[in-house]
Order: sequence, then C-alpha cells, then structure tokens
Amino acid sequence: MQSLLRLLQDGQFHSGEELGAAVGVSRAAIWKRLQALEAEFDLQIHKVRGRGYRLEAPLSLLDSDSLCASSIYPITLLQQVDSTNAQAMRHLASGAVPPFLIIAEQQTAGRGRRGRSWASPFGENLYYSLVLRVSGGMRQLEGLSLVVGLALLQALRDAGVNEAGLKWPNDLLVGGRKIAGILLELSGDPADVCHVVIGIGVNINMRVTRLGEVIDQPWTSLRQVVGEQVDRNAFVASLNRQLERYLHLHQAEGFAALREQWEASHLWQGRAVVLAAGAQAIHGRVLGVDDTGALRLDIDGQEKVFSGGELSLRLHDDS
Ligand code: BTN
Repeated sequence: MQSLLRLLQDGQFHSGEELGAAVGVSRAAIWKRLQALEAEFDLQIHKVRGRGYRLEAPLSLLDSDSLCASSIYPITLLQQVDSTNAQAMRHLASGAVPPFLIIAEQQTAGRGRRGRSWASPFGENLYYSLVLRVSGGMRQLEGLSLVVGLALLQALRDAGVNEAGLKWPNDLLVGGRKIAGILLELSGDPADVCHVVIGIGVNINMRVTRLGEVIDQPWTSLRQVVGEQVDRNAFVASLNRQLERYLHLHQAEGFAALREQWEASHLWQGRAVVLAAGAQAIHGRVLGVDDTGALRLDIDGQEKVFSGGELSLRLHDDS
C-alpha cells in the first residue's frame, strides 16, 4: 500500500500498468487497492480513462530513513494511530526506555489541550511526540512547554514563516490563526523520576478541512503562509535540531535564561486579556512571564501570577 502512495504522492497521473508493475499486481487489481487506500486514509484518488490515476492533491510523505538520519532520538514512524501521545504512553507502559520519538502520518483521535480534539488528516501535517525522562524534579519541568514553543517557533521561522509568534502558554499563531500546538503529558511522579511526553502538532500542508471535520478555532498552515507545498521531512529535521538546542539550554540553565527571548516573541505582551480559569474570567494586562514560565498579569495595579495547563487566554475586546 505504501509503495503505491509513494508513487502517487507527486499528484501526477500514473497508469494502471505502471502502478501494477511497481507493486506486482495486475492492472485490474490496482483500482481495488486504490479504493482501499481511499477508505483507510480518507484520501481522494481520481481515475481518468486513458490517463490513469492521480491523488486529488500532491502529498509530501514522511520517509523513515530521512527522519532517522535527522534525529538523535530513535524514531517510530506509524501510518495511523489514535494519538501519538497516547501511543507514547503505551510504549512507556510496555517498558520502552526514553528518549524516543513517535511520529504518525495520521491520528484518528488527536488530542488538544483542555479536552479538545486535534485535526489530524493523513499525510498533511505533523503529529510528533517526544518522550524524555525527567529526573531533576519540578525544576526540569518549569517552563518546559514554553521552551518547546520557542524551538517550534524557530523551526517555523526557518521554514519561512517569519510572522509566527507565541501566545501563552504555548500556542503558535500567525495573523491570529493557530498554526501549531503543544500538549505536554506526564507519567510518573513529577517530584521524583517521571517521563514527559512532548506532543507537537503542526499544520504543514493542510489546505481545507475534511468533510465532517470541524476545527473550532481559526487556523492556518505553513503551506497557506508560504504559498507552496512544504517538505515535511525537512521540517522535522529542522524541528529536531531546534528542540535539541533549546532542550539542552533549558536543562543546563533553566527557563530563566530563555525568559527574555520568550517574551520578545510573545504576541500578547502588554495587551489587555481575559484569562479563563475554569468558570472564572480574570481581566488584566499582560506583563510577561516569570522564571517558571507562569503568566504575570497586572490586575488593577497589582501583579498576580498564574500557572496551570487548564488556563487559557483571550484578548479583551478593547485591547
Ligand atoms: C493544542 O491544543 O494546542 C495542543 C495540540 C497538540 C497536538 C499534538 S499532535 C501530536 C500529539 N498527539 C496528540 O494527540 N496531540 C499532540
């Protein structure tokens, strides 16, 4: 199946004869195989008499060899999984030893922050979970998700998305639209030895939402920003490099050393915001973040600090 997709990923027509010869089946059997691919990965393949078959749009498929060559961490590349974070947790539970990386071409139950789902169509975006062992107690976790945001921001800029910025705690936006998100999940005791799953989702080549799929926030993708299809293997290589660099800095010097850099890329620095904490809405002006990555707000002339994965920020209307 994968070899068929590799041939078709250029979005050009390929004859039944060529496809059949490449995978060693008869011309007649090819259409059946292509229909199975359509159904399994929710793809659209056009069949035109006299010309052959082509994908509705070209794909940049991930390539295991190229991914492994660009990573210091062992990588498992899956075609389809419920969630790379969930898979990472299962690997841990079955005794896999971190660090390791799980990447998938498609998630059927991608998880976002605060119980949301994460749209994860086949072959278009990046679904990436890096698992690390954390032994230095809470200090090693402080500001970690913000540092991952910085690494991801650099990878986006390296790919030509110069206008990307951060929104506390770890959203990546372009022109008010979400281009990438980060979901950290812990396993074990954070005060002692634990494991952290760093889940990263990046909208790379997504152009439209699939039938029946609803994304409940404005979104964009690298492709929409740079105006052409992006090589996903090259993007992963760049993200791997930036993560290695930033995670090393964070481990050696803590978030304090990166705090200024983070604030310089914070899109809502100085803005009037509303912080949603459960049912509570807290109004304030963003001062920045502290050395642990917590949000500092000016509330009626007093500085207050907020942290926690369930918090979310929106702009106050007159900001
Ligand atoms: C957010 O809501 O902003 C966080 C989105 C995180 C999505 C990524 S995709 C890879 C990893 N696996 C998941 O199920 N979620 C994260």
